[in-house]
Amino acid sequence: MAGHGGKQRSFRPIDRVGSRVGGNHPRHWPIRHLVGGADDCYATRVKPRPHPPARPHGVLTEVLPDLWFVTGTVAMPGPLPVRFSRAMTVVREGGRLVLINSVRLDAQGLEALDRLGKVTDVIRLAGNHGADDPFYKEHYGARVWAPVDAPYMPGFSPKAPPYFEPDERYDASTRLPLRDASVHLFRSTPPEALLLLARDGGVVIAGDALQNWERRDEFFSWLGALMMRMFGFIKPLNVGPGWLSQCKPPAEDLRAVLQLPFAHVLPAHGTPVLGDALAKFRPALEAAAARRS
Ligand SMILES: [Fe+2]
Repeated sequence: MAGHGGKQRSFRPIDRVGSRVGGNHPRHWPIRHLVGGADDCYATRVKPRPHPPARPHGVLTEVLPDLWFVTGTVAMPGPLPVRFSRAMTVVREGGRLVLINSVRLDAQGLEALDRLGKVTDVIRLAGNHGADDPFYKEHYGARVWAPVDAPYMPGFSPKAPPYFEPDERYDASTRLPLRDASVHLFRSTPPEALLLLARDGGVVIAGDALQNWERRDEFFSWLGALMMRMFGFIKPLNVGPGWLSQCKPPAEDLRAVLQLPFAHVLPAHGTPVLGDALAKFRPALEAAAARRS
């Protein structure tokens, strides 16, 4: 990407079909194997869908210098009112804004975002998030980044054609669109990332892996709150229980988080953990790693 220098890795779907054939583990398969149609070009399998609407959200709050946090709503499909919260982090570098764990904002929210800078990039971390990434690409012409081999699955179904393909596929060696950013990747299914910013003692931005839902907030429906409490989500300093049981990250990838230099965590679920976050998350990470051993 212009202005960032260095070698970048870009995985266009057509390239990946040729470049990644040969691994025996499903993790190493090109996405076309996950969505079927061995003779189809993967690019033809993408099936765009209408953008989900903006749903209720809070205000953008600067929690660290040049770093804002806003909590919004996710609504599960189906007849029952299952809603809970999810959060977006906005990082400003110069006049550019990078959105992480994107949440579509309403018109007033977008005006507030525009007052902070120009949205140029979106980074997806969680394999089960990303529904609003296509909106931001269309609205701002933003460049969208997602982990290698993490398809945009409609209804969490890996067999359905993906609804979107990002501009860039990243792995741990990719130069990201923030000067001080790197990623820690979990070899889960689908893959999941933490974004680490080397500033203010270390900032981790998490998708589903690290959560801090101390209590239900105003974006939960009563049923959403009941379900999330039953399944162990409403808990501070938590490793995402659904992600742990369904996406099955290897124990060593969980333990490796304990080696990362960070003091703060901005999760996609719950509130920011500001200060001493590595020590605070240690018990949950050790317990999660023990479960996965
Ligand atoms: Fe999530």
